[in-house]
Amino acid sequence: MPRKLAVITGASAGIGEEFARRLAADHDLLLVARRRDRLEALAAELAAGSGAEVRVMDADLAEEGGLSAVADRIAAEPQLALLVNNAGFGARGLFWESDLAEAERMHRLHVTATLRLTHAALRNMVPRDAGAVINVASVAAFIRRAGSTSYAATKSWMAVFSEGLHVELASMGSKVLVQALCPGFTYSEFHDRIGVDRKALAPATFWLTTEEVVEASLKGLRTRRLFVIPSRRYALLTAVFTKLPVRLRLALEIGRRRAAGDPAPRP
Ligand SMILES: NC(=O)c1ccc[n+]([C@@H]2O[C@H](COP(=O)([O-])OP(=O)(O)OC[C@H]3O[C@@H](n4cnc5c(N)ncnc54)[C@H](OP(=O)(O)O)[C@@H]3O)[C@@H](O)[C@H]2O)c1
Repeated sequence: MPRKLAVITGASAGIGEEFARRLAADHDLLLVARRRDRLEALAAELAAGSGAEVRVMDADLAEEGGLSAVADRIAAEPQLALLVNNAGFGARGLFWESDLAEAERMHRLHVTATLRLTHAALRNMVPRDAGAVINVASVAAFIRRAGSTSYAATKSWMAVFSEGLHVELASMGSKVLVQALCPGFTYSEFHDRIGVDRKALAPATFWLTTEEVVEASLKGLRTRRLFVIPSRRYALLTAVFTKLPVRLRLALEIGRRRAAGDPAPRP
């Protein structure tokens, strides 16, 4: 009997790679990212260790060609059981000073690719009344910091999009699940790519491993949770921050930037 299929975007590193490692035990896999060599090495390792059929697609999901190729593939997979929209990246700098092309690229990857791949997946899953979509958002969906405006906005979109789908599907009695996974700082290539010093960003106790993040997500899938925020520390932080008045949030951010030696916000 054919195994269920999980499609994971951004599987060549970090959280996506860990999803692939965990899901290979009971799924065939389709791994998507730009670095084909990394995907092929992981596919060979997982196929040898688990017996899963592991296929790869090198695609830039911020570009139309790569995105439509992956969407078409998802739409046509008869055993599709899980889509993990995980591919993403961070950025540094104040929005008005930042490279607009890079910000647009982030929106295409976090928003447009999530929208298109989820649409393809749900058209496949909902008529069969089976399957799940995990959208890897972030605690940045709830917490505002100077220098991550586009990132927070796109991750907020992913959280709201996931909740909207959850409401639609649950209210029609569908068994298809949607999860917004909202990790805090996680050890991966994410911060290396943007040249951020992890120690300057947050104390070690705030850093999560990819294993902790993926374990929380898969547990959340079993218990049908919409929002999964790995670790109690982040769940508490998010709950408190979202209830603070905007003025107090701003005062906290100004204090944080001064303590970090960032330039004071301009008038
Ligand atoms: N690390 C954190 O602290 C943290 C916290 C909260 C949320 N997240 C979210 O978690 C997700 C995974 O990040 P990570 O921490 O695992 O980072 P990572 O180690 O840098 O992995 C990012 C993955 O996304 C892929 N990717 C990036 N741009 C792509 C594109 N245009 N098309 C296709 N694939 C692309 C990368 O592969 P290629 O370079 O091979 O394409 C890589 O596989 C992201 O959505 C991120 O926003 C991370």
